[in-house]
Amino acid sequence: MAILVAGGAGYIGSVTVELLRGAGERVVVLDNLVRGHRPSLDANVPFYQGNIGDRTLLARIAAEHQLESCIHFAAVTFVGESVKNPAWYYENNVEQGIALMSALVEAGVRRVVFSSTAATYGEPQHVPISESEPQWPVNPYGWSKLFMERLLHSFDVAYALKFVSLRYFNAAGATEKCGEHHDPESHLIPCILQAAAKAPPEVAVFGKNYPTPDGTPIRDYVHVVDLADAHIRALGHLRCGGASDYLNLGTGHGYSVLEVIETARQVTGRDIRIRLEPPRAGDPPRLVADPTKSKSVLGWVPTKSDLRSIIDSAWRWHQRHPRGYDS
Ligand SMILES: NC(=O)c1ccc[n+]([C@@H]2O[C@H](COP(=O)([O-])OP(=O)(O)OC[C@H]3O[C@@H](n4cnc5c(N)ncnc54)[C@H](O)[C@@H]3O)[C@@H](O)[C@H]2O)c1
Repeated sequence: MAILVAGGAGYIGSVTVELLRGAGERVVVLDNLVRGHRPSLDANVPFYQGNIGDRTLLARIAAEHQLESCIHFAAVTFVGESVKNPAWYYENNVEQGIALMSALVEAGVRRVVFSSTAATYGEPQHVPISESEPQWPVNPYGWSKLFMERLLHSFDVAYALKFVSLRYFNAAGATEKCGEHHDPESHLIPCILQAAAKAPPEVAVFGKNYPTPDGTPIRDYVHVVDLADAHIRALGHLRCGGASDYLNLGTGHGYSVLEVIETARQVTGRDIRIRLEPPRAGDPPRLVADPTKSKSVLGWVPTKSDLRSIIDSAWRWHQRHPRGYDS
């Protein structure tokens, strides 16, 4: 029996594949490589290049591998891009997501772990954010993820498809083998580290007048290995007959943009300078998870997610792969 990892050649997917294989699991990866990298996976990982919306391909994969579950990472994920091109985001993340879920049901697969996001909360009224916080996304990316959460619920009611929807906060960090390579890069930590490697090292900071102690937005960073571990636990929960659920993946502790830059200065030894830019629309001041429920349902406690360890692991990966997977 194999686990289908959709989007498994991407950042979080490839780390999860690494951990799953380390735990002795059989995996099959489906990825169209629109944002993923084949070299992020070992050469002997069964790999299909194609769309999650391709039902013929999915039927073939199901016939060639006995699928028992799916971890669904595949999505386009840039907030700004989703505002400019919502049609692509709804087509790729929702329309193709429906096809994937329908094909899984047809193939008899009844367990799904889904990559959701803190972006489904939009601008929350209560921080730390618990799973019962109202969800009202402020961009098409967040809506595409919320639609998939609703779809999963309907598929549970109608077809007994059991799922765990994991609402990640900010993924960061690397393993020895796998790291973050997006093009263009929009996530803070890799942007800072890319800047640190240049001369002069300079990074853009978008706004310094937020209602936070140093005026810059606060986010909850989770090491990608802790995230991958949560997926393995979520799969275990479903295999033991656990109920469908929605769980936050965050540490409960936030760092401001300036704190992240200062830690990056210490880790890299580079004098990273700041270029102040106007604030971005829809950037909430503080997004920090209440992770109580993940701990109680999955026994998940992040162990690698202190900021220094995250940045240290990411910096080592960046130094070994200055051009990401292209090098
Ligand atoms: N990185 C974060 O901080 C973060 C935070 C919250 C949620 N998420 C979610 O986690 C998941 C993984 O994020 P990531 O940072 O690893 O992104 P990523 O872009 O590195 O990985 C996504 C993968 O999906 C593939 N893909 C996209 N559309 C596809 C399609 N139609 N068919 C087949 N493959 C397709 C891409 O090629 C890529 O390899 C995404 O669903 C994202 O929305 C990420």
